Amino acid sequence: MKTIKSIDIIQPDDWHTHFREGDLLNLISKFSARVNNRCLVMPNLNTPITTSKLAKKYLKDIKNSLQNSRLSILIPCYLTNNLDLVDFEKSLIDNVFIGAKLYPSNVTTNSSFGISNIEEIFPALEILQKTNKHLLIHGEKIRENIDIFDREKYFIDEELSIIRRKFPDLKIVLEHVSSKYGADFVSQNKNIAGTITPQHMLLTKKDVFFDDQINPHHYCMPIVKDEKDLIALRNYACSGNNKFFLGTDSAPHDIIDKPPNLKSKPGIFSAPCSIELYTEIFDQENSLENLESFSSINGPNFYNLPVNKSKIRLINQKWTLEECSQSQNIKVKNFYGGNELNWKVVNLNK
Ligand code: DOR
Ligand code: ZN
Repeated sequence: MKTIKSIDIIQPDDWHTHFREGDLLNLISKFSARVNNRCLVMPNLNTPITTSKLAKKYLKDIKNSLQNSRLSILIPCYLTNNLDLVDFEKSLIDNVFIGAKLYPSNVTTNSSFGISNIEEIFPALEILQKTNKHLLIHGEKIRENIDIFDREKYFIDEELSIIRRKFPDLKIVLEHVSSKYGADFVSQNKNIAGTITPQHMLLTKKDVFFDDQINPHHYCMPIVKDEKDLIALRNYACSGNNKFFLGTDSAPHDIIDKPPNLKSKPGIFSAPCSIELYTEIFDQENSLENLESFSSINGPNFYNLPVNKSKIRLINQKWTLEECSQSQNIKVKNFYGGNELNWKVVNLNK
């Protein structure tokens, strides 16, 4: 590590995060607003965001939770096999939706409305390609005999490669890339980029699975994998490769939904310290000069949106993050809560 004392970067955006709804939304949205200019907020609510009406209502709820913040919110449409395609196309053209999110059915939180046969969404993908809007993918395939650690590879081989061939001009984001195999696929194919979370560059499966229980606060989908995967993801992120950018997948759950076993809901809540963790990772890799392109340039470029004008400052100073974030009825474990962090955001010139 070099001993750089502070770094200024263009204000980041988070291209993949979860804001939830109700009390949880009101508790957590401020953590993302503290550093980001834009957040791309996932549509996997209890009632998935599948129509313009639901998207507009959700946007209002988010704005109410944020009070005076200037954070911009982008929402993708949750793809189902019975979308109203007229509403879908109009919402893309009107920028109500930034694109659409493919959840294979039952791969993660609130994905039971997702897709079990990708051919069912070909008409929607046709519309995305035609309108030059993006397809965001949770890239995991579930089937008996597919190991939890191989789900990304199977999805790529059996589903994504078909989508890639059939819709060559469609812009795809492979969300939370979790394996070397996935990251190599992104780097070697056209019109595809990937978001990388902090946890996939900090944890391996040894941090999740113990003899007879799991650490539920390190449990997310896609599951974190091996050392070789962690290293590959660090290399792609820190090398300045413009196909990779920031998407935290910060995904809060109340601690009552996080027992130390596989009944735990998957999701890691990193919003209170995600830019600090990314900075630490780039510092460890002696690549702080590439942090800004990952956090603030590659994302908007891939989404055909302007790069932010404002800057933020991070200083090399130790601080300890609170163990949990809580309000009256809810308590969420913060990723790295109770731990010392080496970088701190000090100055937000919005
Ligand atoms: O771990 C995860 N949690 N992965 C996802 O894809 C969804 C998220 C959630 O919504 O809880
Ligand atoms: Zn997610």
